[in-house]
Amino acid sequence: MTFRIAQISDTHLSDDKPFFVDNFVRIGEALRASGPDLVLNTGDISLDGASNDSDLATARVLHDGLGLPTRFLPGNHDLGDSQDSPAHGEGAIDTVRRARYLSHFGADWWTLDIPGWRLLGINAQLLGSNLDAAEHQEDDIATAIASLGRRRLALFIHKPLFDQTADEQAITGRFINPVPRRLLLMSLGSTVPAFVACGHVHQYRETWSAGVRHVWGTSTAFVIPDTRQPRYGVKEVGYVEHLLEPDGRHESRLVRVPGVPTLDIAEFPAAYGPV
Ligand SMILES: [Fe+2]
Ligand SMILES: [Fe+2]
Repeated sequence: MTFRIAQISDTHLSDDKPFFVDNFVRIGEALRASGPDLVLNTGDISLDGASNDSDLATARVLHDGLGLPTRFLPGNHDLGDSQDSPAHGEGAIDTVRRARYLSHFGADWWTLDIPGWRLLGINAQLLGSNLDAAEHQEDDIATAIASLGRRRLALFIHKPLFDQTADEQAITGRFINPVPRRLLLMSLGSTVPAFVACGHVHQYRETWSAGVRHVWGTSTAFVIPDTRQPRYGVKEVGYVEHLLEPDGRHESRLVRVPGVPTLDIAEFPAAYGPV
């Protein structure tokens, strides 16, 4: 049986700044009609959960309202950005912010086994951080890899590992930084993931590097104008459907939901300030 994952991302939900709730609700209706085996939000679930508990609570209620099996991974707006990120508009991850996230969404890294596969979800913001939890996450990744057996590995993480190749040296807020990236890839040992799926950039893209499919999930909420962010792929809202076969075959595709507008963050200065 094909296992269908609906990857939503960058929902940026809030109760007092509910600019992107309508898009979430409409895409949620499409998800309910589609009935995937799992809805996985790859982070920036909330508009500003790094500062506002109520944004996290609201986002959780909206996801529970889907009535579908859900899993979550944190983004920089949910518990603060990586400590080695060059910009911290939302603050950096710390134990208080992380605990607040955990209280609403549960574990910030996890594995889920389905026929033929192990899904491994990682907290991107812990990479390159000095929190004790960063070491625990590393240990759990090593354990998940050591016990993988014959399963294929699918890696889910908020930020893309890189633009085109793993040896890039640029320090950006957009991709995992070079040192934590190298450590993460080392922790996988000889295991080559079948695919890596992320969010964060608010663009859909599929590329291949060293035999690995890298799928960027777009936002359900908004895109970032070309004046502020290069065009890497498709700047349209929607979600991504991943089809995983027990024999290891896999496909991913962008799903556009009719009637859901691609909003431009530049038109919502009250969200994060003027673009
Ligand atoms: Fe985002
Ligand atoms: Fe993000």
